[in-house]
Amino acid sequence: MTAVAGTERWSELFAERTRAEVGGGLFEILALAADTELIPFAGGFPDPQTFPADRTKALLEEMIGAGDLSAFAYSPTRGLPGPLDALASRLETHQGRRPAADELLLTSGGIEALELVAKSFLDRGDDVVVEAPTYLGAIMAFRSYETKLTAVALDDGGLDVDALERALVAGLRPKLLYTIPDHQNPAGVTLSAERRHALVALAQRYGFLVVEDVAYRELGFDGEALPSLWSLAPDVVVQIGTTSKTFFPGVRLGWAAGPAEIVSQLVVAKQNTDQCAGALGQKLLEAYARSGAMDEQLVRSRALYARRCGRMLAALERTMPAGVTWTTPRGGFFTWVTFADEVDAVDLTRRAAAAGVAVVPGSPFFPDGRGGSSLRVCFSKVDDELIDVGIERLAALVAERGT
Ligand SMILES: Cc1ncc(COP(=O)(O)O)c(C=O)c1O
Repeated sequence: MTAVAGTERWSELFAERTRAEVGGGLFEILALAADTELIPFAGGFPDPQTFPADRTKALLEEMIGAGDLSAFAYSPTRGLPGPLDALASRLETHQGRRPAADELLLTSGGIEALELVAKSFLDRGDDVVVEAPTYLGAIMAFRSYETKLTAVALDDGGLDVDALERALVAGLRPKLLYTIPDHQNPAGVTLSAERRHALVALAQRYGFLVVEDVAYRELGFDGEALPSLWSLAPDVVVQIGTTSKTFFPGVRLGWAAGPAEIVSQLVVAKQNTDQCAGALGQKLLEAYARSGAMDEQLVRSRALYARRCGRMLAALERTMPAGVTWTTPRGGFFTWVTFADEVDAVDLTRRAAAAGVAVVPGSPFFPDGRGGSSLRVCFSKVDDELIDVGIERLAALVAERGT
């Protein structure tokens, strides 16, 4: 158990399922990510300069001035009709498929959409496939239902769908497969077009549900995106999304789009989770999206993150000793840096923090303890000049111990 001295009074009573989440020592390491004194390569956060503060102020004044009080009230569990319609229109524009009214649900962030899917589908011992590595929040959400996680490797083309197929042929029968096809967290890679088709074909053949997380989809540096899995195979995919990177995370909004039967079940699950996403945020999102401001901001956000990514990759190229590799993102917030086996990424993370740089070691992103020689390095919320300083310091630490 990981109780802090003097606070262990209740932990013996905590539910069994709360115990084995992220290994004890890693809490301390993940806490370093929150240290605001360090050069911030750790948290996967949007840059505050992308937050529409002025626009939000104006929208609030307009809404209140017009006497619309629905923003202050409870919303229907599925979401308010206007915001749902605005979101459906965005999905139609950006993904070429419009969800029917019963195929879409507004949630309190992407993480809630994930939680609702887990709550609706998973019993203790169920098999779930995730990518190796994958989003830590997803590992925690699936683990909290005491499921069995199988991690399938990914490479520069995203999830290794051939490896998945081999596991299925060998008898693996997951209920769910969770994937982040675009600019993946933490690896920064994107699932190839060919693999997208192959993946949904496997879901159709073997009868599992694909949970497609599109958190970074709209942040491709060139503004282009491959077909979403949900648009390719709406019969076997639930898409979960978030407005945290395209609007602002403080509003806590996301969505789930999928087969009507599943979305109805998610609505039921939401009734006894938080009942509804906040109406105020929903109304703001609707106005922001309909006004075109969301797409205008996206153009600026993509340019900002592309510039920082370019600077980080150049700094890695310039400074890292031979033998170190990293992924080349085409969008999103992250690159994944891998060292020779002798480098212990947890130790490197501690030494980096002592040198004023926050990173996250690879192992929390695997459900099975792998990732010991990798780091997730995030470029989204760090000033351009600090990118060079931070990467130079990291490279010096790596060189100290050999690669
Ligand atoms: C892949 C992925 N999915 C979901 C989320 C959760 O987003 P939200 O802030 O909407 O809960 C994140 C946040 O970092 C993420 O990286």
